[in-house]
Amino acid sequence: MTDRSQHLFDHKASALADEDGFLVDDLGTDGDQLEREERAALRRVSGLSTELEDVTEVEYRQLRLERVVLAGVWGEGTVEDAENSLRELAALAETAGSEVLAGVLQRRHRPDPSTYLGSGKAIELRDIVIAEGADTVVCDTELAPSQRRALEDVVKVKVIDRTALILDIFAQHAKSREGKAQVELAQLQYLLPRLRGWGESMSRQAGGQAAGGQGMGSRGPGETKIELDRRRINTRIAKLRRDLAGMKTHRDTKRGSRLASRTPSVAIAGYTNAGKSTLLNRLTHAGVLVDNQLFATLDTTVRRAETADGREYTLTDTVGFVRALPHQLVEAFRSTLEEVADADLLLHVVDGSHPDPEGQISAVRAVLADVDATDVKEVIVVNKADLADPEVLDRLRLHEKYSIAVSARTGEGIPELVALIAEELPRPSVDVNVLVPYSRGDLVNRIHEEGEVLDSEHVGEGTRVVARVNGDLAAELGAFAG
Ligand code: GTP
Repeated sequence: MTDRSQHLFDHKASALADEDGFLVDDLGTDGDQLEREERAALRRVSGLSTELEDVTEVEYRQLRLERVVLAGVWGEGTVEDAENSLRELAALAETAGSEVLAGVLQRRHRPDPSTYLGSGKAIELRDIVIAEGADTVVCDTELAPSQRRALEDVVKVKVIDRTALILDIFAQHAKSREGKAQVELAQLQYLLPRLRGWGESMSRQAGGQAAGGQGMGSRGPGETKIELDRRRINTRIAKLRRDLAGMKTHRDTKRGSRLASRTPSVAIAGYTNAGKSTLLNRLTHAGVLVDNQLFATLDTTVRRAETADGREYTLTDTVGFVRALPHQLVEAFRSTLEEVADADLLLHVVDGSHPDPEGQISAVRAVLADVDATDVKEVIVVNKADLADPEVLDRLRLHEKYSIAVSARTGEGIPELVALIAEELPRPSVDVNVLVPYSRGDLVNRIHEEGEVLDSEHVGEGTRVVARVNGDLAAELGAFAG
């Protein structure tokens, strides 16, 4: 066991010693004069760490580990919702390479406009940060720039928000040139209105009277480093936009040729960690990276597969979804999700063992609606049936008309899913009876790949095939009708 996992273990063990999995510390020092919601003590949520199992991963990550305390405000909804949200934040923070030391929730009607947590609770958070030896606080929301600064002033360590965390994970995972450019664009858009906050305490007056000349083309006197940074960022944003437009043209061409070939396509979408990659592997026996981490998949993966009766189709694995996706990233999603909009069938994978699968389904649908990908026929694939509570499976089956329960891990339900895909995919519609000369073996291959062969025999002049194919291929075969 590495030092880190030993530490996590100790942390967990000590947390478990407290009642009901909760550490409700009576940290209140505010007295009776405060509102009831204000008085509610910070509720410490224990057992947040999901413990990375892969030791090499842990060791590699130690290089950039941050020691974080999570903070959330619990307004409407149940305490379970609030805790689930904080647990997800913990998983996100670990995926980004941090060590989660503690998490706190404050019950409050709405977040404090100046410091997110109420001011008294912010001071208590400071105490927890010191006690845990943390160097970062992660808030479960998108903070206004001023909120982030004000809270940082109180807790005296770096404060980041959920949006920055998600952007950081995407930045670590983007592999393709387009994916990287998209994430950088999103990060710069996030940064721009927040420039003033970063390192404010240091002097940002690199420009200013002394440095600024009056001559033509020089920056005016008093221009600050921030303005210079802002200009540089804007230039970079413009360049990224241009580059992305070029890449999109290229992608559209590729997509166009895929569409023209009319190979039926199935898209796999779903909440992060639902098991999309595992399912893709199950359906195609391909070696796609599977990782118990969020967003192991960022760029879409396209694989070929075949129905039992020999019809070829493509299976596309898409990026994982997440609740409250930073709006800066929705654009990045739009391009990857064009694949979903084109698909003949959408397998919407949901983790049946998650505490709130319905919440995940609606989060995914919200993003799909945002990127106009809602016209495709959707089947809810409730995955991890091996772990899920049978009652939850029944509940989902009742509410979702087109649904099927599977386990990508054990294979349970997979034959039924395969049959369902074959059933739902569009079938070729034109009957042909052709005699294809041996010199055109390519056409015979295409009939096999794209169509349904009903009968075929080799005769003197070539191959006689009775089949059902799509319109394009039927037109090409016109010359050989016999
Ligand atoms: P993102 O890349 O984050 O979008 O994740 P994903 O949806 O592609 O999930 P992935 O296939 O990487 O699986 C996430 C975790 O769930 C892995 O640890 C898998 O081994 C596990 N998993 C996937 N399917 C099942 C299943 O049917 N049963 C169980 N018990 N675990 C599963």
